[in-house]
Amino acid sequence: MSPSLTVRRITADQGAVFRELRTASLREAPYAFGATLEDALSADAASFNATAADHAVSLSVSTFILYTEGHPAGLIEAHVDDAEVRRAFVCELWVAPAVRHLRGGELLVDTASNWLASVGATEIYAWVADANRTAMRFYEALGFGPAGEHRRVERAADQVESLLVRHVPTTSQVFQQ
Ligand SMILES: CC(C)(COP(=O)(O)OP(=O)(O)OC[C@H]1O[C@@H](n2cnc3c(N)ncnc32)[C@H](O)[C@@H]1OP(=O)(O)O)[C@@H](O)C(=O)NCCC(=O)NCCS
Repeated sequence: MSPSLTVRRITADQGAVFRELRTASLREAPYAFGATLEDALSADAASFNATAADHAVSLSVSTFILYTEGHPAGLIEAHVDDAEVRRAFVCELWVAPAVRHLRGGELLVDTASNWLASVGATEIYAWVADANRTAMRFYEALGFGPAGEHRRVERAADQVESLLVRHVPTTSQVFQQ
């Protein structure tokens, strides 16, 4: 029987869980993220506690955690950037290998997208490395398509990442794009 998967917004007291998931994701899939495992390991516990506390209540940035049978098994960040034309992004997506292909990634993206729509987003953006074919196919399967922007991957200057976008019905008027 498939394990039951749920997603909930991070709570202010989950700094240690956040640290555990971030380091696990950077250890398992270093090719997928801008930060490195060394960055995460050298950051002190207080910084993870501060991030959890902020992401639990902020109106512009949040983290959502995937649980399988109550155990943390993945995460995603959702944020609205502070550029002049405000855009809503999902990033830092990771699902533990043991629970992949069970639609946990889809649940994370949809939950994060719904939250971004609730604060006014009508388009959800994601930067994905061109070499990360699994993530590309995953986002395409969820209805994301090319937004037409490309940039060099920060930690690997010989690689390129592309911006993907998915339209969502807005549920709020907090900001207009
Ligand atoms: C990308 C990732 C989050 C997908 O998580 P997941 O929980 O396995 O994905 P889901 O089960 O929700 O998949 C939904 C759909 O995406 C597509 N998909 C997912 N994994 C895929 C793969 N390896 N190859 C092709 N398509 C894939 C499929 O269409 C799938 O639907 P299906 O199961 O009916 O075929 C996961 O593989 C992961 O954590 N990878 C490492 C980190 C990473 O690359 N993060 C993205 C950074 S941009």
